[in-house]
Amino acid sequence: MAGILPKLIVFMAIFITLLTVIVDGESHSFSKTLPLRSKKLKREKMSHLHFYFHDIVSGRNPTAIKVAEAESTKTSPTEFGKMVIIDDPLTEKPEATSKLVGRAQGIYAMASQSELGLLMTLNYCFMEGKYNGSTLSILGRNTVMSEVREMPVVGGSGLVRFSRGYAHAKTQWFNHTTKDGVVEYNVYVIHY
Ligand SMILES: *[C@@H]1O[C@H](CO)[C@@H](O)[C@H](O)[C@H]1NC(C)=O
Ligand SMILES: *[C@@H]1O[C@H](CO)[C@@H](O)[C@H](O)[C@H]1NC(C)=O
Repeated sequence: MAGILPKLIVFMAIFITLLTVIVDGESHSFSKTLPLRSKKLKREKMSHLHFYFHDIVSGRNPTAIKVAEAESTKTSPTEFGKMVIIDDPLTEKPEATSKLVGRAQGIYAMASQSELGLLMTLNYCFMEGKYNGSTLSILGRNTVMSEVREMPVVGGSGLVRFSRGYAHAKTQWFNHTTKDGVVEYNVYVIHY
C-alpha cells in the first residue's frame, strides 16, 4: 500500500497541472462562439413599460441642469447648442408624489437650428419590483413640440438584456414660466 501514495501524488500533480492549462487556456482566449441556451436565451418576448418623466428645471432642487451652451445659444430661437444633464424621476402616475419606478439619467442637447429638436442620450434606471437594477438605453431625436415623439431603445441590462425597441413620448403638461414638464412614456422592448 505504501508504494501507491507517491504515485498518487505524482498523478494528482500532473492532473492539476493539466487542469490549470485547460482552464487558463479558456479564460485567456479572446473570442468564442456560444450556443444561445448557455445564457438561458430561449424565447423572445415583448414588454410594455408605462411611466411619467418629470423634467424639473426650476426651484431649489432641479433634476435637469444646464451644463453648457454656445455664445449664440442665447439668441437662438431653438436654443441650439444647449446641453442639459438630467436625473429625472420616473413615476407610475402623472403626479410627482406618485410611486417612483425609476430615474432617467443622461444628457439631452438642443441639436436643431430649425425647431426644438433634442438629441436624447440617456438610461432609464428602474427601481420597481423585478425591474429594480435593470436599465434601458435610449438614443434618439425628440422634437418636443410634436404630439408624439419616437426614440429608439438601443439596448438594456439586467432583466431586459439584449433589448431593442422604441419609446413613445407625449407631453402631459409643460409650464411655460418655469419650463418644468411632465412627459408620458410608453416603451416597447423585445428581449429574452
Ligand atoms: C432595489 O435594489 C436595491 C439594491 O439591491 C435595494 O436597496 C432597494 O431596496 C430595492 N428597491 C426596491 C423598490 O425593491
Ligand atoms: C407655472 O408655474 C408657476 C410658478 O410655479 C405658477 O405660478 C403657474 O401657475 C404655473 N402655470 C401653470 C399653467 O400651471
